[in-house]
Amino acid sequence: MAQPSPTPIQTWPCPRWIAHRGAGKLAPENTLAAFRLGAALGYRAFECDVKLSADGLPFLLHDATLERTTSGQGVAGDLPWSALSQLDAGSWHSRLHAGEPLPTLAGLARFILHNGLQLNIEIKPTPGQETATGRVVAAQAAQLWAGQVVPPLLSSFRPEALQGARETAPHLPRALLLDSLWPGCLDMATQLGCAAIVTHHRLMDAGLLAQARSAGWLAMVYTVNEAADAERLLALGVDGLITDAVDRFAPAGA
Ligand code: G3P
Ligand code: MG
Repeated sequence: MAQPSPTPIQTWPCPRWIAHRGAGKLAPENTLAAFRLGAALGYRAFECDVKLSADGLPFLLHDATLERTTSGQGVAGDLPWSALSQLDAGSWHSRLHAGEPLPTLAGLARFILHNGLQLNIEIKPTPGQETATGRVVAAQAAQLWAGQVVPPLLSSFRPEALQGARETAPHLPRALLLDSLWPGCLDMATQLGCAAIVTHHRLMDAGLLAQARSAGWLAMVYTVNEAADAERLLALGVDGLITDAVDRFAPAGA
């Protein structure tokens, strides 16, 4: 009997410039205010960090704990959405943004899709919840983007999260995030059927770019905030740059 063919690698139309956590540091990261500001500055593509509440709802937050960017305390993934939704995720940044709530992934998707924007969802699991987070985030992303021409890109530093995503939504493109070139990392990207690698910008050079090209991956980098770094990476030919410097790097023509 013929074996079913494996799901082909899904590609992603990679924008040149991607705004990190919404609008980098100009507004409270990973809040709708940040995405609105990034869009107002001309950005058409965004990165965000997503994890699960205790009752399994995907929402935006970078850290595992609440202290740095919200009025809450402790491990974010230990609280149900009913508690997380009451927190102030803006006052830590500035008075202007006092009371800004944590967004759900569904809420951000409404803003992204209504405005014809692109999203890179970084799956940022609470430690110990890697596979479940990948599964749930990918399943919800598949629902939210159903029927859309351009899907979200699902990325993670954690291979287990990408494997979970692959199990529930194999058709959504995946990217392995790399903060170092750990042994076997490129083989892992192959095994996970990734469409891209997203490396710390200092790791990207001509040799790694050539390896990405030969594997059929997009070569993306984070977090590029200095003009000299951007010039080097653009000259190298990387596909996408994730940046906080949304007020200095104009995305026009990206
Ligand atoms: O997705 C790229 C970048 O966001 C990864 O690092 O720590 O800013 O989420 P971090
Ligand atoms: Mg991130």
